[in-house]
Order: sequence, then structure tokens, then C-alpha cells
Amino acid sequence: MTESRSKARLVILISGRGSNMRSIVEAANQGQLDVDIAAVISNRPDAAGLEYAQQAGIDAQVIDHKLYDSRESFDAAMAEVIDSYQPDFVILAGFMRILTADFVEHFAGRLINIHPSLLPKFKGLHTHQRAIESGETEHGASVHFVTAELDDGPVILQAKVPVLDDDDADTLAARVLEQEHLLYPAAIQKLVLQQTE
Ligand code: GRF
Repeated sequence: MTESRSKARLVILISGRGSNMRSIVEAANQGQLDVDIAAVISNRPDAAGLEYAQQAGIDAQVIDHKLYDSRESFDAAMAEVIDSYQPDFVILAGFMRILTADFVEHFAGRLINIHPSLLPKFKGLHTHQRAIESGETEHGASVHFVTAELDDGPVILQAKVPVLDDDDADTLAARVLEQEHLLYPAAIQKLVLQQTE
């Protein structure tokens, strides 16, 4: 963070619903999080979260991955737009595109993701179903630094929930999501405080 500004600048990337992005915006508005949200960027024009961001007065942009002929060209375009905001952290909040190693390296140490499992367990998709099928009694979510390997970077904070006998993937996902909405702002604030130490 530069000395001339007291708050960390975030750019948040989404692909859909955007409920985690919303929890971050709300925590910032309530003064629980010392950040300025410079922009919300979606790779999908129909992402529901875009409307919320616009209404919250945040710069909301679409960079449609379908308009690019390669992952590399899409990531390069995204990196250029993100760089224009000079963010301290780039926050993946339900951003459903695999990122190239070049992109990850460019934002190394500043690129953060939330994953719905207790990493290193259940990397990848369908985490809730897989946790139930493997007989876990606890499940949860992890906020972690993004590295080139999928869902593999150092964990910043985790939240746990019980897995109940009558859970299906949806009931378990809802219990985890409720915790995600507390976890992501808390993990970002932890990074912000570390940065200003
Ligand atoms: C969350 O479950 C998050 O952990 C995962 O994708 C989902 C995004 O939900 N990475 P939302 O778009 O934030 O509502």
C-alpha cells in the first residue's frame, strides 16, 4: 500500500451470483473492512452480481471471455484492466475461469480466492457432494493465496461447519456459504492489517 492512501484497494472478479462480493462491499460500507473497492469485473455479461455492484456505485465492468480466442489473450486483457486500478489485492469471488500461470505470476502475493472446502481437502468442483460422499463430519471454506496450481496456495483463514446426517449438497452448501460471507471480509481485513504493520 502506498503511504498516500490509508485503505487497501481491491478489484473483485466475479462470474455469477456475487454473494461473496456483496458481503465484502457490505463489510466495507459498515466500516468493518479498511478497503476501497475500485472495481468489480465479470467475465460474464449476465452475472447477477454486476447489477448489485453498479447500484452500490462501484465501477462494474464486463470482460467477456467468449470474445477472446485464447485463455492467454483473455487473461492479458483482464490484467491490463485490473492494473489500471492499481489494486493492492485482486479478489476472486466465485470467478469461474482457470487462470494462466502468467496471470497468476503477475499478481503473485496479491491474488486471493475463496474455495468451499477445508483445503487441502476437496480441491476443484462439487466440494459439498464429495464431502458428504466421503463421510466427512466437518466441512467448510478456505480463503487462500492463488498460485499456479488449482486451489493449492497458502491458506489465510478457514471456517468450519458440521456435516449433518440429513445434509444434501444444497443444505451443506448453504451452511458453508453463510460462513463464507463472514470469512472473506475477515481474511481480507487480516491481510490489510498485516500490510500496514
Ligand atoms: C462460493 O461458494 C465460493 O466459495 C465459490 O463459488 C461460490 C461463489 O458464490 N468459489 P457467489 O458468486 O459469491 O455467491
